Amino acid sequence: MIVHDAAFRDLALIELNCVSKTYVLGSTEVHALREVSLKIEQGEFIAVWGPSGSGKSSLLNVIGLIDTPSSGEVLLAQHRINELSDDALAELRNEKIGFIFQSFNLIPVLSALENVMLPLQLRGVSERQARDKARARLVEVGLEPRMHARPDEMSGGQRQRVAMARALVGDPELVLADEPTANLDTETSYHMVELMRKLNEDDRVTFVFATHDNRLLDHVKRKIHLVDGRIGAEGEA
Ligand SMILES: Nc1ncnc2c1ncn2[C@@H]1O[C@H](COP(=O)(O)OP(=O)(O)OP(=O)(O)O)[C@@H](O)[C@H]1O
Ligand SMILES: [Mg+2]
Repeated sequence: MIVHDAAFRDLALIELNCVSKTYVLGSTEVHALREVSLKIEQGEFIAVWGPSGSGKSSLLNVIGLIDTPSSGEVLLAQHRINELSDDALAELRNEKIGFIFQSFNLIPVLSALENVMLPLQLRGVSERQARDKARARLVEVGLEPRMHARPDEMSGGQRQRVAMARALVGDPELVLADEPTANLDTETSYHMVELMRKLNEDDRVTFVFATHDNRLLDHVKRKIHLVDGRIGAEGEA
């Protein structure tokens, strides 16, 4: 059992060693992350929680290769991130990671369907195949009837679900979701949590959420508590 544990630890999907992120605004420095170290194994279902401004989005952005730390080391699937070229980073991100942004980041001139197709088309998947896969993901999140609408013609919860379909469409190994249920009513939120748990259990997709939502926190085994950019006193409750 100990041998198994040790072997498993060596194969962490994500490893952060003493990661700090500092934003410089004129003469002030904002310490968004302070010396955060953690390991996430493949197949985990994890929530990052803590007050507004505690660094949850900053942590997800660093894990998701959207932002680089000011200091410290990030490893994803055994790749040392700071040793990779921009092209290699983009490829790793496209292949392995689905990201649901707190502000959705949908493209306003594209329909829901076109937004969800885009990551596949960027990978060179044919339009027809991309359309079929995108439609299937939109059905899964309950948005098929609205798939030809543009983001500005949708409610916040509908946009959030388009963002979720887009994050899932490329069958990522890792999904990073920043407040994925923040705009959803209880029933839709429950449906989304079930969908994520099913992907986690059946396909071993790793999920890391930033959330305040107890409806989501209740379903999560491992919780990382952030306070003022550090893993808080409650550690991993
Ligand atoms: N681009 C930026 N430039 C300057 N400061 C930033 C930037 N992004 C975040 N910050 C600051 O870093 C700190 C952590 O922000 P972050 O967005 O990670 O918090 P959060 O826990 O996600 O908050 P929320 O729950 O409100 O989404 C905050 O003090 C924030 O103001
Ligand atoms: Mg945030």
